[in-house]
Amino acid sequence: MMFSSVGRSLLTVARQQVRSLHRTTPACSDKLFVHRDSPENNPDTPFKFTPQNLKTCDVIIKNYPEGHEAAAVIPILDLAQRQHGWLPISAMHAVADLLKMPRMRVYEVATFYTMFNREPVGKYFVQICTTTPCMLGGVGSDVILDAIKENLGIGCGQTTGDGQFTLLEVECLGACVNAPMVQINDDYFEDLTVNDMHKILNDIKAGKKPKPGPQSGQDHRFACEPKGGLTSLNTPPTGPGFACRADL
Ligand code: FES
Repeated sequence: MMFSSVGRSLLTVARQQVRSLHRTTPACSDKLFVHRDSPENNPDTPFKFTPQNLKTCDVIIKNYPEGHEAAAVIPILDLAQRQHGWLPISAMHAVADLLKMPRMRVYEVATFYTMFNREPVGKYFVQICTTTPCMLGGVGSDVILDAIKENLGIGCGQTTGDGQFTLLEVECLGACVNAPMVQINDDYFEDLTVNDMHKILNDIKAGKKPKPGPQSGQDHRFACEPKGGLTSLNTPPTGPGFACRADL
C-alpha cells in the first residue's frame, strides 16, 4: 500500500499516540500462564507452612462452611506467598493438599490473579500504575516511572542486584483520584512528584519507613477528599424527619 507524505505523517502521529496495554516486558505475576520448571521453581522447591501459619490457615478455613474449604484458596495462597516472599509451585501443592483440592484448581487461581508472583521478587516490590488516569494525573506516571528507573538502575520486570527492589508496571490499582501512584509491598504512595518518589525510595534504602498515602498536601489531604476541604457531607446529619414511617 502506498501513502502520500501527509498520510505518512498522520500514520506516524497515530503510531506515537497508540499505547498498548503493556509497554514493557511482561514479568513476575504477568508472565506466561503456564509453568516451566526452573532451578528455583519446581515441585521440589522447599516449602512448608510454619506452625504459626498453619494455625492461621485453620482460622481462615473455619470462615467457610464445611465441605467448602476450597473457598479459602485465595487467602491461603496469599499467606503462602507472604511466608515465602513469592509463590513457587511447591507452595501451590502445599495449599492444594491442605484444602484437599486438585492441584489444577489451585494453578487456575494462582495464574489468574496477578497478585500472585510465580517468580521471585525483591524484598520491596514496586508496582507502578500506568493506566490512563495515572498517566494523565499530576506529573504523569511516565515521569514517575523514569524517576524509579533512574533511582534503582533497573527496568520494568527487573530486580536490583542486591535483591532489594523489583519494579513492575501494572494496570489500575484503584487509587485513580490520587494519581499518579505506586504500590510498594502493601503500601500505596499517592499524589506523587519526582522528588517524592526519590525520597520514598531513598528512605527505604536507608532502612526508614516512608509514610504511605498522599504525599502532597499531606496536612490537608488524608485520603482522596478535595484538597480545598469537603464540599458536601460537611455538616452533622439532620436525622429522620417527622414523616418517617414510624410516625405515620
Ligand atoms: S489509574 Fe492508576 S490507580 Fe487507577
